[in-house]
Amino acid sequence: MTDPRRAPEQVPEPSKKLIVALDVDSADAAREIVADLSGVVDTFKIGLQLFSAAGPAFVGELVESGSRVFLDLKFHDIPNTVAAAGIEAARLGVWMFNVHASGGSEMIKRTVGGVGEFCSKSNQRLPLIIGVSVLTSSDSETLREVGIGQSIDEQVIRLAQLAKKSGLDGVVASANEAKAIRNAVADRNFLLVTPGIRPFSATNDDQKRVMTPDAALSCGSDYLVIGRPIIAASDPRLAAAAILKEMNASRQ
Ligand code: C5P
Repeated sequence: MTDPRRAPEQVPEPSKKLIVALDVDSADAAREIVADLSGVVDTFKIGLQLFSAAGPAFVGELVESGSRVFLDLKFHDIPNTVAAAGIEAARLGVWMFNVHASGGSEMIKRTVGGVGEFCSKSNQRLPLIIGVSVLTSSDSETLREVGIGQSIDEQVIRLAQLAKKSGLDGVVASANEAKAIRNAVADRNFLLVTPGIRPFSATNDDQKRVMTPDAALSCGSDYLVIGRPIIAASDPRLAAAAILKEMNASRQ
């Protein structure tokens, strides 16, 4: 049977490596940003806020309009529920979605298997399935609070290896851990999706483990997730173009 999964993108253009987080409260606000960035960025992340406000209908609308959609709902539940939710994400035609790697191997394998089977049967394109490692807003104190005594690095590597072993396509992690993940997971096609990116001029907001766009790419990130530095800028199109320029710089 032919695997409907697309071949991994080898060194995509900078504009294909930038994922803009549509962290807004309505479909109209998201449409405005997407229109503003037209021709500059075509990959968008729909997270908990926008999904709760605008639902699957807006996900479908964005997919239909030709954008690549990363559905960032960070699924974490019993294996059966996460697998079923993953199938619905695939049915919507998203390009990428994620699950918490800390949900464990059974949850991940059931999801990867269930989504793969659904996509083969329905001849639907298989989405990339990515594991969330440790949120970029967390630090070692946050881990201690929830009973994890390991360092951030140790925990990220543990979850990245679990994600790889269980069949995920990559992980979400801070760019600060990118090199360590590349060393711990031999497969170069294992994708690193990195939020917590801040161009030189921006503030950190609530992100604790941040890096500039070109530094993140140099450390081995495949995709940069950027929200507020673009969507909260006075001119989002200009902000995105400036970030793409910084990303280009890392290729010189
Ligand atoms: O505005 P900012 O650039 O900080 O947005 C980062 C985006 O990446 C947010 O939508 C946040 O939910 C998401 N994210 C994150 N850390 C993760 C996974 C996703 O910050 N580990």
